[in-house]
Amino acid sequence: MSTPHNSANPGDIAKTVIMSGDPLRAKFMAEHFLENPKQFNGVRNMLGYTGTYHGKPVSVMGHGMGIPSVAIYSYELYHFYDVEQIIRVGTAGCLHKGMDIGDLVVAQGSCTDSNYLQQYHLPGTYAPIADYGLLSRAVDECRAMGIRYDVGNVLSSDIFYVENQDWRKWAAMGVLAVEMESAALYANAAACGRKALTILTISDSLVEAKSASAEERQLAFTNMMKVAFSLV
Ligand code: HPA
Repeated sequence: MSTPHNSANPGDIAKTVIMSGDPLRAKFMAEHFLENPKQFNGVRNMLGYTGTYHGKPVSVMGHGMGIPSVAIYSYELYHFYDVEQIIRVGTAGCLHKGMDIGDLVVAQGSCTDSNYLQQYHLPGTYAPIADYGLLSRAVDECRAMGIRYDVGNVLSSDIFYVENQDWRKWAAMGVLAVEMESAALYANAAACGRKALTILTISDSLVEAKSASAEERQLAFTNMMKVAFSLV
């Protein structure tokens, strides 16, 4: 059975899916990390491929920008394709001085300004968190690779072009960085008893005027992909 957004047949997608917002980054992962990649989706250009990594089956797929988009793709993967774990690799803006472009952030938890979690009608505030097993292995890999990384809370915001300074309040609560998807990914995983982890690369800063060269970004992106593939 395919879905309105994914033309894959059951069995076309591996139990582990590594996802990126940009479908072309998924294509990059297929070309640089997968052995024998086969494309399973092209609907809306949301490219998805399955192959093997060191002989183990794994899929890669884009999830688009923002909570509604990642929520659709991840829900379908968990519910209709029986995917066990989704590892998102993405970019984030850092909220603190002392963090650098290219640093990795392993998202232990994710706050959000989105309404997405209200659908669960919980009598309080839910804290979307990463799967601890995936998280601790990702941290081990960052250490082994000798790269700069942080572990902690992120903000999954609905707003990229902010017209206010509200991010400072999240920063004051220790939130490390802002992106736009993890809270929904973590909630979707929790709601069906599956696993999820987000590994981010800092691509910009809200506190300092910082930017990196294209090469530095490419290297940093490859680092987070290496960490993600080490979890397969
Ligand atoms: N805001 C939201 N998402 C992002 C950002 C940002 O500044 N940088 C990279 N992803």
